[in-house]
Amino acid sequence: MSALVTYFSATGTTARVARELAGAIGADLFEIAPERPYTPADLDWNNKSSRSSREMADEGSRPAIAGRVDSMDAYDTVFVGFPIWWYVEPRIIDTFLETEAHDLAGKTVVPFATSGGSGLGRAPERMAALVPEATVLEGRLLNGRLDADELRAWAEGAM
Ligand SMILES: Cc1cc2nc3c(=O)[nH]c(=O)nc-3n(C[C@H](O)[C@H](O)[C@H](O)COP(=O)(O)O)c2cc1C
Repeated sequence: MSALVTYFSATGTTARVARELAGAIGADLFEIAPERPYTPADLDWNNKSSRSSREMADEGSRPAIAGRVDSMDAYDTVFVGFPIWWYVEPRIIDTFLETEAHDLAGKTVVPFATSGGSGLGRAPERMAALVPEATVLEGRLLNGRLDADELRAWAEGAM
């Protein structure tokens, strides 16, 4: 079984976890990179008109991604990592899932996230609605220090 670890990370926390996860299970890595990177001002959740606030206030917002996964065909399991934004997945994750929905059909999608303390909330359920032909698992919050063996055991259980 072959796995791909994809992730979006605005400030590097999820990126680090994604690299550890990919390393632990020998998976390939793909960054869901925004066409226009997020600046610190874009990420200001105290400002209602910041880019992230505007995107998260708009269910239909789909920030553009730079690049596509080369050969989704090669993978059975696709991990999708992201920071929790306003209790759910950032809209760019919705862009990714919609763009790849056709290629994700029949595969297992495993959400994982980092946060300031919130859980995954309704993110897995929301993600499942965007890739109806994939199996989206409950996923896991991967905050804090991760034990490589525990990470491997969890990830392999999902594959
Ligand atoms: C716009 C925005 C909204 C956020 N909303 C939440 C939230 O609802 N709950 C939470 O625990 N953390 C929230 N956070 C904190 C991030 O989830 C956390 O810092 C995450 O680890 C950042 O990951 P990254 O470095 O990969 O971008 C938010 C951060 C940003 C920028």
